[in-house]
Amino acid sequence: MTIQAAEKFAKENTAQVAAQYRPKIHFAAPYGWLNDPNGLIYYQGYYHLYYQHNPYGANWDTMHWGHGRSKDLVHWEDLPIAMAPDEEYDRSGVFSGSAIVHDNRLYVMYTGHVVAEDGTVTETQNIAWSDDSIHFTKYEKNPVLAAAQLPAGGDPADFRDPKVFTHAGRFYAVIAAAVDGAGQILLYESEDLLHWQYTSSLLANLPELGRMTECPDFFTIGGQDALVFSAIMPNEEPHLVQIALGKLDWATKTFQMDSLQPLDQGLDFYAPQSFEHNGRRIVIPWLRHAEMVNYLADHDQNWNGQMGIPRILTMVDGQLRQTPAVTGAALQTVTLAETATRSIPVASILTLKKGLAVGQSIDLESPDGVVKLRQTTADTLELQVHCDLEQRQLPIKTPTGQGALTLVLDRSALEVFASDGAAVASLVFFFPSAIDTLKYAGEANQLTVQSFEA
Ligand code: FRU
Repeated sequence: MTIQAAEKFAKENTAQVAAQYRPKIHFAAPYGWLNDPNGLIYYQGYYHLYYQHNPYGANWDTMHWGHGRSKDLVHWEDLPIAMAPDEEYDRSGVFSGSAIVHDNRLYVMYTGHVVAEDGTVTETQNIAWSDDSIHFTKYEKNPVLAAAQLPAGGDPADFRDPKVFTHAGRFYAVIAAAVDGAGQILLYESEDLLHWQYTSSLLANLPELGRMTECPDFFTIGGQDALVFSAIMPNEEPHLVQIALGKLDWATKTFQMDSLQPLDQGLDFYAPQSFEHNGRRIVIPWLRHAEMVNYLADHDQNWNGQMGIPRILTMVDGQLRQTPAVTGAALQTVTLAETATRSIPVASILTLKKGLAVGQSIDLESPDGVVKLRQTTADTLELQVHCDLEQRQLPIKTPTGQGALTLVLDRSALEVFASDGAAVASLVFFFPSAIDTLKYAGEANQLTVQSFEA
């Protein structure tokens, strides 16, 4: 598996990608499968989005790192594949990881996934670097972390997704691991990015960490320390993404958790990663239909998986808020009567100045289905999908009052930011024809429509 082979295949096959469900605002791979965002960073004048990528088909398979870059987080330029599984230690997949700039050089730390002939899985952490963001050199002494640096009970098959950062002049990485069959977030430390030691376990003994935790993230927001993680839950329970807020005590290298909440209440949101630029904490997640992961692959679309809209995370009066980090090309504000029907663009950001009060609703209609939002109680916004393929119902907890309601709508995804972004839920749906109508039943209101089709 080489970068050259993947690039050749991409050139020959990109024209086979079907447009039907393909997003206009959300990022998708030019061809084939995409999952986690990786190596998010602002470097040399661009936002870079690397991602888990199978360039040969629309199913999850031997992972490469795809690469896109953007000036504005809306328009993305596809760049050559950044890394292929071409070394002994990553031959079954270049798994997820993160990026950091050090001495003007872009470093990435990622997981090498190896499945031996007898099926034994081994995961190690590895380093690569680039001086132009496009061509990477893998460190000749990889791996930099292996099973020997796991705490007792750690499983070498479940040791992945390093998120690297600095604190007080040292490098650190949070890495996910299964220890004695349960998810933990481990902290590792380095002086030069090349030599790493195990420090401590930051989060353990929490049912929400599942049987394995994936894609941990660490950052500070509004004076609090945050650990974000995506958990593989036992017994077919939905895999949720949680954010733990508290304090990392740097003297003892322990994390005191004060609160835990889902980062997004939708089931189709997974593996987010964040980065900081100009004082903004920007989060990008992977969106996929949790119960129909292979729908697009099975329907010959030749692409699969999209990123959520980049969102800015803030803390307002101790409460977490998320807002889309992008705005549309056209901005139109209209007054909605108590009942109103309007045509809407396929790809748009729709903002209602006042959220829905109890009993009020919005229907987003396509000739083939409808997504309904209805405030059923003071603190529950119900999200429903009705179409031939499925009937889905999801409660979104909105304990923080009405606030503005923002909907990021695209060809096969909807992101709901309720109560001024205090309650968020992402949804993936498959309607053969696009949503083109909004039906509103509520108090007279103001609707802002930002279109992305210009
Ligand atoms: C999360 C994940 C990561 C892993 C990658 C493999 O979706 O399973 O833990 O690194 O995807 O593609």
